[in-house]
Amino acid sequence: MEYLTPLIYRKILNTITQIYHNSAKDPEWDLFRFKDVLDSFSEGQIINKAWAVEELNKFITDDYDACLVIGSWHGLFSHMLAESGFDKKIVNVDLDPICNIIAKQLKVYDNIRFKDNDGIDLFPKFNYDNKIVVCTACEHIDNEELDFMIRQKKPKLLMCLQSNNYYEVDSHINCSDTLEDFIASLPLKKILYAGKKNYKNKYDRFMVIGK
Ligand SMILES: C[S@@+](CC[C@H](N)C(=O)[O-])C[C@H]1O[C@@H](n2cnc3c(N)ncnc32)[C@H](O)[C@@H]1O
Repeated sequence: MEYLTPLIYRKILNTITQIYHNSAKDPEWDLFRFKDVLDSFSEGQIINKAWAVEELNKFITDDYDACLVIGSWHGLFSHMLAESGFDKKIVNVDLDPICNIIAKQLKVYDNIRFKDNDGIDLFPKFNYDNKIVVCTACEHIDNEELDFMIRQKKPKLLMCLQSNNYYEVDSHINCSDTLEDFIASLPLKKILYAGKKNYKNKYDRFMVIGK
């Protein structure tokens, strides 16, 4: 994947303008949302999502008919997965309804949906052997909740999980020191892929794909 469709960049500019207008009328629309949108489509985010899409695609067969993305932020992963050719339903779930309003404005592909919910609570509805579950935000999710979710999973459900050792951010409540620690924290039965990427000598991002 060499580029993102230019349409999404046009949509990002329109969304930033919309945030500005909304902020004048509604205190829920804080101007930090400008930065949040830009951060969610930053170079680092695109590299990490492209990494996930590239590795995950090696394990996606015709048997899989939907993908759930937990902690989807503004939907970049779903956009890139759809752009890579995945045309089954992709359901993004995020706790923050404003993220989902923004994500809907940025949406390009028709097979992408957004839900306001806790991804751990929604998981049982997707817990089937023909589903894919992705969470590139494990550092934001309580370790006991993640552990509980993974222990319930059906044997063939395909999971792709990312975390990091970037402890400096307050909302990062579940970082791992190393890739080995991240793998050890996940009660998956089968590891299909595990890797790490360093970001500008600041922190490491870890990724595990498994069943
Ligand atoms: C700030 S983003 C960044 C995550 C990560 N760095 C990435 O690239 O995917 C994390 C998102 O996860 C959401 N989130 C955190 N816990 C969640 C949960 N249990 N269910 C759904 N969304 C959640 C937050 O609302 C936020 O939009």
